[in-house]
Amino acid sequence: MTIRHLGAMAKLAPSVLAADFARLGDEIKSAERAGVDMLHLDIMDGHFVPNISFGPGIVKTIGRQTDLFLDVHLMLSEPEKYFEPFAKAGGNAITFHIEIHSNPVPYAEQIHALGLQAGISLNPDTPIDTVLDYLEPFEYLLVMSVFPGFGGQSFIPSALDTLRAAREHIDAHGLKTRILVDGGVDSTNAASVVEAGADILVMGTAFFKTEDRVALVEKVHRM
Ligand code: DX5
Ligand code: ZN
Repeated sequence: MTIRHLGAMAKLAPSVLAADFARLGDEIKSAERAGVDMLHLDIMDGHFVPNISFGPGIVKTIGRQTDLFLDVHLMLSEPEKYFEPFAKAGGNAITFHIEIHSNPVPYAEQIHALGLQAGISLNPDTPIDTVLDYLEPFEYLLVMSVFPGFGGQSFIPSALDTLRAAREHIDAHGLKTRILVDGGVDSTNAASVVEAGADILVMGTAFFKTEDRVALVEKVHRM
């Protein structure tokens, strides 16, 4: 049994990418009413990942709809160019990928200097050892359980090993870093990812396509 952040219940962060953009305002309000813990905003440049999503303007629009914490996931080749625009747009945390630079700490310092929390993410084929020694300044570690770029993909089981290794390191070193898991997470694998050490579950399709969003949030909060 791993000791997650003692007493902390698992949390749910819907990935807005899976929302109905024709009714984005309603979708944000629905997520808020369902009791979600933060919103996960996937920003894609068509270069680091083979898809293009949305930019600071949409983040600002979303921020006007809710007081929920906005967790901005930058899947960009040059994320540092966009820390300030997404901070100004109302982002509360900015996460970027270790694949863009072997030493992520200076980037965390830039994000903190903007008054935001910082997260580091790794793709499913990136060894967890590439980030463990750099975790100390980061509030969040985002473990990808799909290859980023699209919602609705299937969960890659090796992410459970990555989660376990991250949880063991964070607990052994008493780090504040909270672990998110992102990609193909749903009610069938939620208990496994929480058991492996995840604190926050990013769910796109599973959240926005479920019949009962409230029940899904309550199920995660009981884990
Ligand atoms: C993938 C994104 C994920 C994705 C999650 O590139 O980073 O956040 O939108 O969506 P689901 O839960 O549908 O895999
Ligand atoms: Zn994401």
